[in-house]
Amino acid sequence: MIAEGDLQGPDSLAQRWAEIDVSRALSPSLLIDRGIVQRNIEKTIELARDPARLRPHAKTHKMIEIARMEAELGIRKHKCATIAEAEMLARAGAADILIAYPLAGPNLQRFLLLRRDYPGTSFRATVDNPDSAHALSAVLSPVDGRVPTLVDLDVGMGRTGIAPSDDAASLYHLIASLPGLIPDGLHAYDGHVREADPDARRAVVRDIQERTFAFRDRLLASGLPVPRIVFGGTPSFPIHAALEEPDVECSPGTMVLHDHGYASRFPDLPFIPAAFLLTRVVSRPRAGRLCLDLGHKAVAADPPAGERCHLIGIPEPTFVGQSEEHLVIDTPAADRYPVGACILAIPTHICPTVALHRRAYVVDEGRIVDQWDVAARDRVIGI
Ligand SMILES: Cc1ncc(COP(=O)(O)O)c(C=O)c1O
Repeated sequence: MIAEGDLQGPDSLAQRWAEIDVSRALSPSLLIDRGIVQRNIEKTIELARDPARLRPHAKTHKMIEIARMEAELGIRKHKCATIAEAEMLARAGAADILIAYPLAGPNLQRFLLLRRDYPGTSFRATVDNPDSAHALSAVLSPVDGRVPTLVDLDVGMGRTGIAPSDDAASLYHLIASLPGLIPDGLHAYDGHVREADPDARRAVVRDIQERTFAFRDRLLASGLPVPRIVFGGTPSFPIHAALEEPDVECSPGTMVLHDHGYASRFPDLPFIPAAFLLTRVVSRPRAGRLCLDLGHKAVAADPPAGERCHLIGIPEPTFVGQSEEHLVIDTPAADRYPVGACILAIPTHICPTVALHRRAYVVDEGRIVDQWDVAARDRVIGI
């Protein structure tokens, strides 16, 4: 049981993880603290007030066991980006899966196969332009039933999506008219929301909400149903979760494992890093220098060099260099770390870090108790 206020900050995590016997664990490797995962999911549900208001994104964990933990706590709706993630979720028994990623090329057929192979699961799709809506409709035959299709709105990120506009309203009407599609609401991901100050973040998110609700009301006034609005990621989650609108679903993903990047940028978020990396000193090429087996094939390289992980317990680390299998640092404490010494690290960006590992050690009550496959790390599972 993890009490409120516990484990806020890497030092208390260091104490919790210091007791784990990692001597026989391979390095570099990913470890998952099951108790903290459980606590992060419970915290997510507490903020949402009802698991029915959640549609967590599976991109972060990609693991069947974590999808099952979510299900055991009452979460039935999920979101994902890839067909493999959707299949992993379906194998975990998920009832309702939204693929919030444009379906193109062979993925259109793979989407159909998902629907045929997992008839107990509802699969939803998103589109952001008329060609994609036509393409999805065209692959469906009358026996395929109707695909619930959301319009992906661009609420400021500028990645996918269509701005809430006349064109977006026409697209929603097109979905209603095309064979095999049924309008299923709006998807509004706000991955550009990065304001560290909670008040500034709230102002940006409220503006997104107002624009989205105004667009939703316009669609409703035109006579079409808008059964759901799927909002946001982790930084905006508490703000969306506080809404009283019944049809809002929140889709944070990172919060289940959390990471050093979000924990340091958004200390107001009530989540705790649950995943860490084991690395060993493999060389001490000169005084004050350590070479670790933590190259960018083991920790995500999208944060800037030198900021890719927090090395627990290493004072004043200076980044020297990183290659595929090596991380070189200077530290005044280098003498305390002989070759073979184990060091734990919290990744700055957990989602791509998880995808670099085929398997994760599972830690519970201070012991390694299991290993979980990162099942949806592969682009193809069965389909
Ligand atoms: C479409 C979409 N929804 C939700 C999320 C989850 O966001 P976060 O990682 O902040 O939890 C992501 C993350 O990339 C995303 O791309």
